[in-house]
Amino acid sequence: MSDHKVIAIDGAAGSGKSTLARNLARTVHLPYVNTGLMYRALTASAIRNGVSDDDVEALIDLIHGLTFTLGGSDPRELKVEGFNERELTTPEVERSVSRVARHPRIRAWMHEVQRRLGANGAVMEGRDIGSVVFPDAVVKLYLAAPRGARVDRRTRERLREGPDEIAAELEARDDLDARTNPPTPPTGAIVIDTGSLDSDATLRTAISLILEHAPELVP
Ligand code: DC
Repeated sequence: MSDHKVIAIDGAAGSGKSTLARNLARTVHLPYVNTGLMYRALTASAIRNGVSDDDVEALIDLIHGLTFTLGGSDPRELKVEGFNERELTTPEVERSVSRVARHPRIRAWMHEVQRRLGANGAVMEGRDIGSVVFPDAVVKLYLAAPRGARVDRRTRERLREGPDEIAAELEARDDLDARTNPPTPPTGAIVIDTGSLDSDATLRTAISLILEHAPELVP
């Protein structure tokens, strides 16, 4: 049975997932759940508390102190109590988030919360949504783009860092991320190459694919 109201969006760092997921959530009137923020919040909490990214027991303790909710409007979206976006995107968080996210016990806990958050339908963004969290999502999109295009996009988003710094960070993160989640589309996913598409063109492409595969989702 398919998860009728879950749209899964997976892909590499800087491939345009967040912009597309938020725009789509607005269009189809579903909440937007950026699962990367959950791993980022745990990482930021570990940094705040001086916990090593190898210390699974201490990380599990920290997870219990995190509160994830859906809040705001247009779209409703995942919020992490006590953390703002700036704290979740610092270079320190970028450097250790893949190491925090690699522990199977942490992933299992996150997966459970993610399934609850998406239970009534959602646009879910991550690395393993279509493969593990919602393998029966009604539409699975996988965003791909050459590393150069991803570096350009991240450089525009993260005004605090220059392109060389971003390129080095992305390369390191691609390698670490690939050890936990293979950088390949999950079974049944439709690949969108965002290398030469701006955010409007990416949204139009995604909507036309959703109209083909799950027209009932588009108002
Ligand atoms: O999508 P992002 O760059 O904000 O994700 C941050 C990190 O979290 C990334 O290094 C991989 C990890 N992640 C994951 O392992 N599984 C997810 N579903 C989402 C993110």
